[in-house]
Amino acid sequence: MRDKPELVSKSRHKRGGAFNAGFTIAAGLGVYANAHARHVSHVTAVDVSEKMLEFAKINAAEANVDNVTFRATSIESFEAADGSYDAVLMLSLLHLLENPRAALDKAHRLLKPGGLLITSTACLGDSMRWFGMIAPVGAALGLIPKVQFLFVEELRSEIADRGFASLEEFNQGDNRTYFQIARKLA
Ligand SMILES: C[S@@+](CC[C@H](N)C(=O)[O-])C[C@H]1O[C@@H](n2cnc3c(N)ncnc32)[C@H](O)[C@@H]1O
Repeated sequence: MRDKPELVSKSRHKRGGAFNAGFTIAAGLGVYANAHARHVSHVTAVDVSEKMLEFAKINAAEANVDNVTFRATSIESFEAADGSYDAVLMLSLLHLLENPRAALDKAHRLLKPGGLLITSTACLGDSMRWFGMIAPVGAALGLIPKVQFLFVEELRSEIADRGFASLEEFNQGDNRTYFQIARKLA
């Protein structure tokens, strides 16, 4: 099994050996933002949870990472100029969003032509189809969080339809997590 930070930090898809500006959506504890910080001039890391970012900042300080700006906001609210970033990371996120397609649109807009989109997504439509039938009831009762039941084929098409060329794809964890590294077409 591949390790996520290793994969994206040492991505052979980088242009000219380095990214300039990176953007991590759903930073969580900052594991990937901090791992990538040494490969780019600057990282903007956003997460909707202030608590998560508190831990992310502590982790950054402990790792002597000082080129990450953490911002407590959602992907839906985050705004930046078109083409601001060389790489956008959306790891373990799309299946959690109300509107994953809108998030892909935003990632596309924020990336420079030729920039990289790196996603890892739980595609529960493929691996837990049965759960999809009871999940809406559980979510309505507040017993389980709302998740999207995405399918790999569908997600692959959604990414391609937005003007990305897939560079690398693989599944992880009994095929439950789908990774794709894609380049924004010019
Ligand atoms: C499963 S964690 C993944 C964290 C990190 N990307 C990783 O792979 O370790 C999901 C994160 O997404 C954040 N999140 C959920 N909805 C979000 C949204 N709409 N905008 C930004 N962050 C969001 C959560 O607060 C949480 O930190």
